[in-house]
Amino acid sequence: MNDVLPDEIARWQHLERLFAETARCYGFSEVRTPFVEPTGLFVRTIGEATDVVEKEMYSFTHHDEALTLRPESTAGLARAYVEHRIHTREPVTKWFSCGPMFRAERPQRGRYRQFSQLDCEIYGDPGPGCDAELIDLVVGFMAKLQIPDVRVLVNSIGGPETRVRYREGLVAFLEPRRDGLSADSQRRLGTNPLRILDSKDERDKAIMAEAPNLAEFLSDDDKAHFDGLQRALTALGVPFTVDPLLVRGLDYYTRTLFEVKGGSAKLGAGDTLAGGGRYDNMIEELGGPSVPAIGFAAGVERLVIASEATIEPSRIDAYVSPLGAGAIERAMILGRDLRQHGIATEVDTRGGSLKSQLRRANALGCSVAIILGENEIAAGTAQVKDLLGHTQDSIALSDVVRIVADRLKSRSR
Ligand code: HAM
Repeated sequence: MNDVLPDEIARWQHLERLFAETARCYGFSEVRTPFVEPTGLFVRTIGEATDVVEKEMYSFTHHDEALTLRPESTAGLARAYVEHRIHTREPVTKWFSCGPMFRAERPQRGRYRQFSQLDCEIYGDPGPGCDAELIDLVVGFMAKLQIPDVRVLVNSIGGPETRVRYREGLVAFLEPRRDGLSADSQRRLGTNPLRILDSKDERDKAIMAEAPNLAEFLSDDDKAHFDGLQRALTALGVPFTVDPLLVRGLDYYTRTLFEVKGGSAKLGAGDTLAGGGRYDNMIEELGGPSVPAIGFAAGVERLVIASEATIEPSRIDAYVSPLGAGAIERAMILGRDLRQHGIATEVDTRGGSLKSQLRRANALGCSVAIILGENEIAAGTAQVKDLLGHTQDSIALSDVVRIVADRLKSRSR
């Protein structure tokens, strides 16, 4: 798990703000669902034989209730969509959500056990145009984050019948070659053979190079849908590659699958920044009506590593320096007045020497220091020191807030 300290938080906040803005421009509204859901929800949707459900969930039983810290947000959002009967309110619903997810994976750079996702889901639009717009949203967002080397991979795994037929074809091909597969893939042959497609093991890769192609099993409708997606992406000018081996690790997908990679120089092999796809049957399987859906999630930690955007860290504008114990209380009152005008202010309540206070003001990046000695207070004035221009003026205490605010405003222009 990962701590985010103040020197990194500005990047997180920038990213989350940019995502919310981008999602809103595409018509999404924010939704927040619980971090904990019934374990059964994830088992039913993500699938019993997936890595996530088999080995990565943080599950526990409390008062006979089996609960799990959410490993992803699609299932919980779909549960909320069904529970609140959202389909009765509008034909198409677009939701976005941000927050922590939990998976007991082996940690490495960009892979953590608590990590944060940005997520978008669209309910009620079955067509490939919707899929293309979603991919366009992801790519546009990554461009705004200045992520280098962004690549979009797409594939279609068809509907459930296609999956069943392909699974049979694949097992028939692999069964006689079982001994040549890695131990993991031998096990998956009985549980989740599709996952062998994206195995990284060289022995598996060599065998899979000859395996039947998923694309040949697609129905005419699946093919038309996938062609429609490719045409729409081309029309939008979004470059993409069809990756016939892309299957992704969650069982709920139907038809469109996609992944967006980037920032590989910094992330190495773990450069999948976002992944998503269509899951046209989940809403019905959770007891709702037949409503098609598609979505994606992006990992915030990975985006933070990959983004080359320069983000200004937030800083303190003004430093109030009291000189002498008798000046501290007046300094605190001035500090509060400045803050009430939106000026980020630090008051030196420790009462050190002027030199050490100014050193601290410079280290905090303050533009202005307001020096309050006991003599100044008696005269109703303060010394306002411009730390960038190195000038200093004596100003009536009653004018300090206004003058400091004006100076900061003219500087930020
Ligand atoms: P996912 O591919 O499992 O999909 O995760 C999406 C993204 O979350 C990954 O591409 C990666 O950036 C990030 N991520 C996943 N696991 C970790 C980890 N352990 N540490 C850091 N980042 C990680 C989903 O979660 C689906 N719910 C996406 C979706 C939404 N499909 C339809 N709607």
